[in-house]
Amino acid sequence: MTLALTRRAAFALAAFAVAGAAHAQGQPIKVGLMLPYTGTFAALGDMIEKGFRLHVEEQGGKLAGREIQFVKVDDESDPAKATDNVNKLIKRDNVDVIVGTVHSGVALAMARAARESGTLMIVPNAGADEVTGPMCAPNIFRSSFSNWQTGYAPGVIAAQKGYKRAMTITWNYAAGNQMVKGFTEAFEKGGGKVIKELNLPFPNVEFQALLTEIAAQKPDVVFAFFAGGGAVKFVKDYDAAGLKKTIPLIGAGFLTDGTLQGQGESAQGLITALHYGDNLETPRNNAFRNKFAVTYKLNPDVYAVQGYDAAQLLAAGLNAVKGDVTKKDAMIAAMKAAKIDSPRGPFTMSAQHNPVQDFYAREVKGNYNVVTGVAVKALADPGRGCRM
Ligand code: BEZ
Repeated sequence: MTLALTRRAAFALAAFAVAGAAHAQGQPIKVGLMLPYTGTFAALGDMIEKGFRLHVEEQGGKLAGREIQFVKVDDESDPAKATDNVNKLIKRDNVDVIVGTVHSGVALAMARAARESGTLMIVPNAGADEVTGPMCAPNIFRSSFSNWQTGYAPGVIAAQKGYKRAMTITWNYAAGNQMVKGFTEAFEKGGGKVIKELNLPFPNVEFQALLTEIAAQKPDVVFAFFAGGGAVKFVKDYDAAGLKKTIPLIGAGFLTDGTLQGQGESAQGLITALHYGDNLETPRNNAFRNKFAVTYKLNPDVYAVQGYDAAQLLAAGLNAVKGDVTKKDAMIAAMKAAKIDSPRGPFTMSAQHNPVQDFYAREVKGNYNVVTGVAVKALADPGRGCRM
């Protein structure tokens, strides 16, 4: 009896090993997309997926000769559900790589699970500084930005414009708080002072009391981070409160990216900084924008670019190992060394696996975030606390 069981167990193990080998060679590579498909960031998740798929399509539907199979989870931008959601992909679906997400709080739970399981992870948006800071790991990469970077660049612009007293307003969670930190660091280095930080819980959009406080304090400038549906409402409310005419608003670029149709006249002339701009006149960006428009009948935004570049980064790793995902060390080495030919401009990876990239000054004109100059060249996140 014991012998029979042992034989059966050995057979099962051998079958498992054969299945594993088949998985490594002929089967599709499983990409787990963990993104928001509902809620205030739903449009952002959709654009990331569209960008990712576009690069795969451009390679004939395969990366490094391997078919790509997508498994999708809607994370609802809800940190409380994030550990269960990411474990569906890692433990139930046994994906080869997780790609996600938008919300920093959700990304932190994903990074924890990726560190524990060793699963390859590419973050196509969420800027949580910890992901390429204290939580960094060899198997975790980002194709987007750190929150610190996206606050620092508008801080440089605000200081250069000679503003002295700033107020900040954002959602009270990792992304908003870390962008405010980056803004404050650059702004105060440039001679300004942040006199008050205002915030409200994510994803609330009841801005009225906070706008009244801004009107009362009369700062020289307001720095804001909101994105998606929340950004649309904030920009319209700022204008409707009469503040746009009296107190300049400078945003992390998410304030006006992918949102301009909803914001209309209220967004015209707003100044932001980001690592992408619609009118970057390079052959690479023009080709990307044309292909995206033809494929989806839509103009791309920064989220589409980050999704596209997540696929490019994965392809760089897969090409180095001819599609054999079991050669993880070689894949990681290739991703680390990759120079990504992005629509935003070429970028490289920092030692902590975060893009080192130019940040552009932009102004809203019509339905476009128009680049007016480079705010900070080759800006690298400090990667504080990362021990790889
Ligand atoms: C974040 O949570 O990290 C985030 C969300 C939307 C846009 C930018 C950053």
